This record gives sequence, structure tokens and C-alpha cells, in this order.
Amino acid sequence: MCGIVGGIANANIAPLLLEGLKRLEYRGYDSSGLIVLSKNNKLLRQRAIGKVCNLENKLKTNKIEGKIGLAHTRWATHGEPSDKNAHPHISKNSISVVHNGIIENYVSLKKSQIQQGYQFSSETDTEVIAHAIDFFTLSSNSLLEAVQKTLKTLKGSYGLGVISSNHPNKLIAARKGSPLLIGIGDNGNYIASDQMALLSVTKKFIFLEEEDIVELDLKKITIYNSEGTIVERPIKISNLMEGKFDLGTYDHFMQKEIFEQPQAIRDTLESRITKDRVVISAFGYKAKEDFQKINQVQIVACGSSYHAALVAKYWLEDIAKISCNVEVASEYRYRRPIILDKTLFVAISQSGETADILEALKIAKKINKKIITLCISNSAESSITRISDLVFLTNAGPEVGVASTKAFTTQLVGLALLTCALGVIKKSIDKSQEKNIVNGLKRLPGLIDETLLQENQIQKLSTKFIDKNSALFLGRGAMYAIAMEGALKLKEISYIHAEAFPAGELKHGPIALIDNNMPVIAVAPNDELLSKLKSNLQEVKSRGSQMIVFEDKDSKVMPMKGMEIIPITSNLGRITAPIIFTIPLQLLSYHVALIKGTDIDKPRNLAKSVTVE
Ligand code: G6P
Repeated sequence: MCGIVGGIANANIAPLLLEGLKRLEYRGYDSSGLIVLSKNNKLLRQRAIGKVCNLENKLKTNKIEGKIGLAHTRWATHGEPSDKNAHPHISKNSISVVHNGIIENYVSLKKSQIQQGYQFSSETDTEVIAHAIDFFTLSSNSLLEAVQKTLKTLKGSYGLGVISSNHPNKLIAARKGSPLLIGIGDNGNYIASDQMALLSVTKKFIFLEEEDIVELDLKKITIYNSEGTIVERPIKISNLMEGKFDLGTYDHFMQKEIFEQPQAIRDTLESRITKDRVVISAFGYKAKEDFQKINQVQIVACGSSYHAALVAKYWLEDIAKISCNVEVASEYRYRRPIILDKTLFVAISQSGETADILEALKIAKKINKKIITLCISNSAESSITRISDLVFLTNAGPEVGVASTKAFTTQLVGLALLTCALGVIKKSIDKSQEKNIVNGLKRLPGLIDETLLQENQIQKLSTKFIDKNSALFLGRGAMYAIAMEGALKLKEISYIHAEAFPAGELKHGPIALIDNNMPVIAVAPNDELLSKLKSNLQEVKSRGSQMIVFEDKDSKVMPMKGMEIIPITSNLGRITAPIIFTIPLQLLSYHVALIKGTDIDKPRNLAKSVTVE
């Protein structure tokens, strides 16, 4: 989603801002822009619709230079993607603003600003911020004060960067509901919405807290809380490695991240299991005590993380014998849910910044103060880790491809560990069952390596999708959630309409869709529902569909004309099967997208981290 980078340095900052924008591209956006304050205090701006390279081309022909500046990648919310709606926005040629988030009261602010004589040049909600700062500048002694006054008038969320031609040595930044950090470099001080933007200049970061406002100059960083009191925030050294953002020998980040899964899972398991036990403190030093207090689990998540949650519901109820509800965060936050005492409230978010999930978590805490909250995230310094009682980090390393792969499978690993930990605490699993689960988890990297060997065969199958507009994914039990994840992957990166159904539901509607143009993809582990699934596959096949079945070598699905059966591996259990069967579905959508020539790592309209609702 939208990205911010800005700073004040002792040399021309424009190249650094452009590099920062390139590093933010993975988040998803549809226009970009950059502004600097020139030597003679003039705001110089360039904006472009589409990819950052379009902006780069404009900057090649119209060079701009300055030691202080702001840049932005915009994912359109208010106003179509266009040059005029791209940030930075300017008021009266003196104030410039970049903004992530949504200003909910912008319509009324805009109305009164028009009455005050301000002219609007965009359809965005952001432009009101620039005009409001300009307005308050007249009654303020500093840019900081004008921004502080402005923020009091705004309803909604913001990550904000502000510069002014009247205050050429100051950059003001603020956050509320949208992430923002400060980078401390040798030759300047910077702001960004994401560490990645600044890794080429610094590894020293300060993560702003909710409603912080910061004043930066070349030498000094002063942070104020919402009451205007100066506060100290710790400096953290990032352990993100620059090399992690290189493609290496791969063509796409998604492909790289699919193949990184064995290592990502090893890293997620590291120090979280012993020879045959789960380390319960992996969820936090108080986890053992907290888990003892809970009787049920509520999970909220979005997108792929929601599918991981659905798998966990099967595991928690089936293995740990704990009742579990799962809901998408965007719905949960707007109902009035009943949250019982002794609930473990789990929020799953790769980025830790998804607005709906953060809000659902906050609302749940308001409804019942006694609940214990746990987040499962891949981002150590994210907002979600700050507001959760317990934290489990997936350690998958940075995921750049918009379509989630290694983050999803490592979330499943985290949820498997949670199932085991709760099962042990509730005494619903004994030592030998715990040992079995731990051994299964240890086998995962090897099993994934084995599954990845099927890539050539899956690549050949992908040609069957060239002329298809729709596909159906089938699974039963926890594999239904994996079918949903497979359908989501295909939709996201190949733009083919895909839906998942629990195979037993086919007769209640979806079977009417089946014909030769509707490929059906099924996942068939060797589990207690296999014979039921086999009957469902017969029903589909006899209606003339083309089928692809990914099966456990021991499942022995009966071959039929028009059906391709790809044996994956064997000896999978309730925990290992959903994780392993995810891999061929990831490879299938990757290869279909490759044939279709889509922008695999940055699919149209999608964002990696959805920081607005
Ligand atoms: C976006 C991404 C998905 C992701 C979802 C939830 O839609 O494109 O890949 O699953 O957000 O993101 P989160 O960071 O909260 O897991």
C-alpha cells in the first residue's frame, strides 16, 4: 500500500528518495512522486502514474536537486490513480505533504477550506492536510506547531511527512494508525513507512509510537507525544539483511520465496522445539501462565493469514480439544461480538500492519479487558507486536512478493506449535503425541524439498489454464482452507477467477458450473476423509471436467480420462499435510501467471500491506 520516504541530508537527497521508492514498490501502488526544496527554497516536484521507473524517467529529463525532500508511492483510495492525485501535495507553493492513511472528515474540512479561498488541485483526502498546515502557519511560531494544530482537526489515520519552503531546515513527521519510523544516518536523518526504504543508508531506526510527532533537522531529532511532551524512543539496530532483497538466481521474488520455504520453516522452528518438546515460552515469557487461564480461542486475520487461521481451527479443536472461532478482521471489527472471559484472542498478520486486524484487536480488548491477546507476525517491530500481550514471530525473513507464500506456511508452523502448546497445557495431548507433532514439524523442510521437485510436472500442467477464465479448487477438512489458499493465489497473480469449495458441498450448487472449460483442482491427502473425497471426484469427473489431483502417494486416486494425478509425497499427518499440499498450489499459480505474463510480484490493484480499511 502507500509508502513514504523522506529526509534531510548534507547532500542532494533526490537519488536516495528515488532508491527508497524502488524499495517500497513491493508494497503495491499505482503512482509515485518526489519533491525537494531547492537551494533557493523552491519546492520542485515530479509525479508519475504507474511504475516508479516512469517517475525515474521524468527525473532524468527534469533533474531536481535539494537537501531536504519527501517521496511517496500511492495506492489510490480517494481519487483515481493519476499524476494530479499522486503525492506529494502542495499548498500555496510553500507546504508539501506526503500521507499514508485516510482522513475521514476531509469532506467537511475541504468545504471550509474552499470558503477560506484555498484551491484544490486533486481529488484526494490528503490535500486538506497541506492546506490546513498552511492555514495554521499564520498563527504558529514554527512548522511543528502548525502541524500539531492541524493534527487536532483530523479524523482518521495518518503516517505523515511535511516540509515547508518557509522552514527549509525542518522536516516534520507524525503517525496515527499508520506505521512510520525514523532512520538515523551518518549524513542525515530520514523518515519512512518501512525499514526497507532506508536500508541502503542506515540500520539505525526509531519506531514512532501512536500519535508521536517528530521534528527532524540535520543534527537533531525531537519526538513529542500527543500531549506535546518531549519523549525518548529507543534506537534499534535492524537485523534485516540487504541481500534478502536481491533476486539472486530467481526471476521473481514469489518464486524465490516459494523455494525459501524449507529454510524459512527451519528458522521459525529454531529454538521453538527441543528434541521432542515444544518450547511454550516461544509465545512469550508469560505464555505458560497465560495459556493455563484460557478455555477458548478466537482468531482474526485477512487474506492468506485468514486461511492459515482456518487450518488452525481444525487443529485446535481436533488435536488440542479447544474450541476455536475464526473470522475475517474486516467483519469482526464492525460487529458487536460476544467475547467470553478466558479467551485467547489471536491476531495473525504477516506485516503486523493490516488496519482491520489492528482495529479488531483493539476492539476485542475494549469489549473484554480480561482476554489474553497473542499475535503471530513476521515483523518484529510492527504495530501488532506493540499491542499484543504475547508475540510469536514467524522468522520467515522479508516477504517481497505480494502473494504470500513463505509467510503463510510459517504461520501454519506457528499455529501448529500453538496447537501443541495448548494441547500440552490442557493435557489433551500426551508426551508421545507431542513428540509425534514435533517430529512431523522437523520433517517439513525435507518434505518441502521433495515436493518442490514436482515443479517441472506442475509447469507442464499450467499450460492447460491458458484459455481458461475460471477454476474450482476442492478439499475436505483442513484441506478446504488449503484449497481456498490455492484459489486465492491463482486469482491474485494470474487474474483467473477461482473459487474453493469443500468437496462435500459441490452438490449444493457449484456442480452446475462444471464443464470442459472449468478445470477442477483437488488436494487429496491420505486422511480419514479420503474415501468421501474420492466419491466427490467421481461426481465431478462424470460431468466432463478436466481435473488435476495432487495426492499423497498412498491415496491412490483412481485414474480417469481427463484427470492428471500428481503424487506429492507420502506419510503426511494432520499437521504436515496442509503445509505440504500448499506447495504444489503455489507452484501452479506461479507457472500459470508466468504463461499469462502478469506482473507476478506486484499484481494489479493489490498491496502487500493493507494499512487502510
Ligand atoms: C494483503 C496481501 C495478502 C495478505 C493480506 C493480509 O491482501 O496481499 O497477501 O495475506 O494482505 O496481510 P497480513 O500482513 O495482515 O498477513
